[in-house]
Amino acid sequence: MTFRASVITLYPEMFPGPLGVSLAGRALETGAWSLETVALREFGTGKHRQVDDTPAGGGAGMVLRPDVLAAAIDSLSDAGEEPARPRLLMSPRGRPLDQALVRDLAAGPGAVIVCGRFEGVDERVIAARGLTEISIGDYVLSGGEPAAIVLLDAVVRLLPGVMGNDQSGTHESFEAGLLEHPHYTRPAEWEGRAIPDVLTSGDHGRVERWRREQAERLTAERRPDLMPDMGTALICKD
Ligand code: ADE
Repeated sequence: MTFRASVITLYPEMFPGPLGVSLAGRALETGAWSLETVALREFGTGKHRQVDDTPAGGGAGMVLRPDVLAAAIDSLSDAGEEPARPRLLMSPRGRPLDQALVRDLAAGPGAVIVCGRFEGVDERVIAARGLTEISIGDYVLSGGEPAAIVLLDAVVRLLPGVMGNDQSGTHESFEAGLLEHPHYTRPAEWEGRAIPDVLTSGDHGRVERWRREQAERLTAERRPDLMPDMGTALICKD
């Protein structure tokens, strides 16, 4: 099953962008996933193909019209397809994107991703088309496109056959609920700094314990909010 991504945007020329190179780009070429863009402008109203209008109740900025966005969503050929693809709206108001959500998405059939622009999207179309708002962090981008690229990059690398070395996914940050341990490679000494002895000891058990300790130390220091409670930590240990 190919993961199918459809991105609804005013700026289709932003895609595939970074998703067309490296891991995601190769996966696109080999058919591990597909990407189509839907140009929102084509669904605009009137001679100028207007997609937005002034906010009801007054105020600054413009709001994306519900009829225009609904027409773009409805133009996608998913009618009756099972399982239905989740419909996401990239928005700083949304549920924070994390690795658990990325994994869920990668296990599914694909996603319809709406990129917001302007002050916002008419609330009625969010409800009527069942859009789930997703945020990539507590900062405001000028539009949802870079957020959609971030989300797709994180999802695509988890698709079957995409990550060259399947092992490389299991130790990385967040997959074990912790930040990743430090890495080293040659030269053995560089600018007077040596590689920790344990890593050159050849004792795999010690190496694994050291990595786990380092991961826990880094997580406690930098992201105490991610630290598992003791019960979870015991379950996680081997
Ligand atoms: N659009 C604007 N800012 C955003 C954010 N932080 N996450 C997702 N979409 C956005």
